[in-house]
Amino acid sequence: MSDARAVLATVRAVSKSYDAGRIAVLRDVSLEVRAGELVALWGASGSGKSTLLHLLGGLDVPDRGELSVCGLDPRVEKDRLVLRRRHLGFVFQLHNLIADLTVGENLRVPALAVGTPRAAAEERIRALTRRVGLDHRLDHRVQDISGGERQRVAICRALMNSPRLLLADEPTGSLDEHTGEAVFGLLQELAARDGIAVVLATHERRFAEACDRIVRVRDGQLSEVTA
Ligand SMILES: Nc1ncnc2c1ncn2[C@@H]1O[C@H](COP(=O)(O)OP(=O)(O)O)[C@@H](O)[C@H]1O
Ligand SMILES: [Mg+2]
Repeated sequence: MSDARAVLATVRAVSKSYDAGRIAVLRDVSLEVRAGELVALWGASGSGKSTLLHLLGGLDVPDRGELSVCGLDPRVEKDRLVLRRRHLGFVFQLHNLIADLTVGENLRVPALAVGTPRAAAEERIRALTRRVGLDHRLDHRVQDISGGERQRVAICRALMNSPRLLLADEPTGSLDEHTGEAVFGLLQELAARDGIAVVLATHERRFAEACDRIVRVRDGQLSEVTA
């Protein structure tokens, strides 16, 4: 089947090991991600899902192989900075927000990093938080809101600079079932409605099965699972 949507991320023959090669995590893996796709990286704990997301996001570098994300090379320092500020958003299992700042203050951080004018940043913050139903929480400190709310704020933060690719590392992993569904639903909507490519690392089958594609991560290899 041909697909006309733009390829946003390419992983080509990438290998990654830790501990001076003693722990081989990814062996010669390749992957393409297109605009608007919701792709599950599905595998057991320790299979290498986070490792692959970190390579895509330029948080770590591969031993071998090539990476391209939005036309930039996450292995290269100067590309990495542009990528993180402009083109990709990262959502972690534990939100990684600044707990004693308010929701609004947390969301201003990425806007400040790229020099967004104040009024435009405030407008974006209002629009995003309204969309996830948290506009009434802007002045609340992160430590005072619930886990599900924090994770929705973390997604807003990742979206502040309008990324084309969202990397989500077990974003529902610390949430109860109902709250997890809501966060997953938001990721689905971002892919389907906004055309953002979303790569979701998860060990949960039910979430993987609701994605557009499932890429199984096992024994250092990636394999496409067809329904
Ligand atoms: N910085 C590191 N140093 C050494 N080993 C690591 C490091 N990061 C991950 N690993 C190991 O690599 C393997 C894959 O880890 P990870 O990518 O975090 O898996 P997953 O996200 O699928 O649970 C695990 O065996 C883990 O212990
Ligand atoms: Mg992980």
